[in-house]
Amino acid sequence: MVTELSKGVYWVGVVDWGIRHFHGYELSTHRGSSYNAYLIVDEKIALIDSVWTPFQEQLIENIRQIIDPAKIDFVIANHAEMDHSGSLPYVMQYAPKATVVVSRRGRESVEGHYHQPWNFKSVQTGDRISIGKSELVFIEAPMLHWPDSMFTYLTNHNILMPNDAFGQHYATVFHFNDEVNQEELYEEALKYYANILTPFSILILKKIEELLSLKLPVDMIAPSHGIIWRKDPMQIVKKYQEWAKQTPENSAVILYDTMWEGTRKMAEAIAAGIAEEGVPAKLLYMPVSDRNDVITEIFKAKAILVGSPTLNNGLLPTILPILEDLRGLKFQNKIGAAFGSYGWSGESVKIIQEHLERCKIKVVTEGNLAKWQPGEEELARCREQGRMVAKAIKAS
Ligand code: FEO
Repeated sequence: MVTELSKGVYWVGVVDWGIRHFHGYELSTHRGSSYNAYLIVDEKIALIDSVWTPFQEQLIENIRQIIDPAKIDFVIANHAEMDHSGSLPYVMQYAPKATVVVSRRGRESVEGHYHQPWNFKSVQTGDRISIGKSELVFIEAPMLHWPDSMFTYLTNHNILMPNDAFGQHYATVFHFNDEVNQEELYEEALKYYANILTPFSILILKKIEELLSLKLPVDMIAPSHGIIWRKDPMQIVKKYQEWAKQTPENSAVILYDTMWEGTRKMAEAIAAGIAEEGVPAKLLYMPVSDRNDVITEIFKAKAILVGSPTLNNGLLPTILPILEDLRGLKFQNKIGAAFGSYGWSGESVKIIQEHLERCKIKVVTEGNLAKWQPGEEELARCREQGRMVAKAIKAS
């Protein structure tokens, strides 16, 4: 349902209740998502972003509830990823006189996606377009999270539309942060940050500094996914500053897979050792764990312990994807350890340690191997490994 955010400023997006895996690389979206587009009706009319292609007709219907789409003067494409630009060709059929406003890198990505002879205008940070009583102010935000990403700010209404930044994959019947369950909201906001934005944390801190230095009054932050921050809108900016510093809590996550329960017994003994030192630990059995939820847990924790038996001189296949995710996400300030049972050759622990070191996760204990099923001696060693990790957490 179309919603007025401020006089003449409308949410015209769509809520996608059914999506459970997002755009190809399988970001899990347990609570659905939304594609937020905003229509600004002033002396000129601007549409900020569009929606994913399957919802293009709904977008046009939403716009029609307010104005004839042919009256649109500017279509701002803050980012070319298709959940926000997928409807552009459809919109442009209905808004043929519109200028497509993009960042400098956005010109390349939007043209590259659609190969259309639209009237483009490239903008850079500080550029303004007057639409009557208000102006659109543009702030390039490269790597938040693509090189083409851009924020659009609307003067007078004091609304920042930062596209993916500050968003959440969270479908609700409401549109504003003060209307929804705060725990759910922050779970989704953190999952979004941990899984998508972590590698760009240093750039995020700089971008927020730059944004604050512009001293733009912000009454609302309206991202392109999830709810709009209207109550204390800067709370999410402060949270991003906190998350971008990557100062994990004093806790551990233990990821493992097991063939004949040997590595499971090790994982549980390690957890018991960690708990003996008063440090919380979570055990995540990878075959039944959602990878993106696991990443969020890793983001929060100081220590990551990874366990796998040896299979064909390597790891069980459920363990490898998360190690590859860790490489790409470049988590900072983590410590780690490896463990696993084996029958014949026993390479798994060494391989895990190599992965952790490649991810710049400091390995704080010897690799912990148990041949066949762990007995009392091996389980005591696991508890000792847990205690050592817990002490390293407390000392960090
Ligand atoms: Fe929501 Fe980068 O797309």
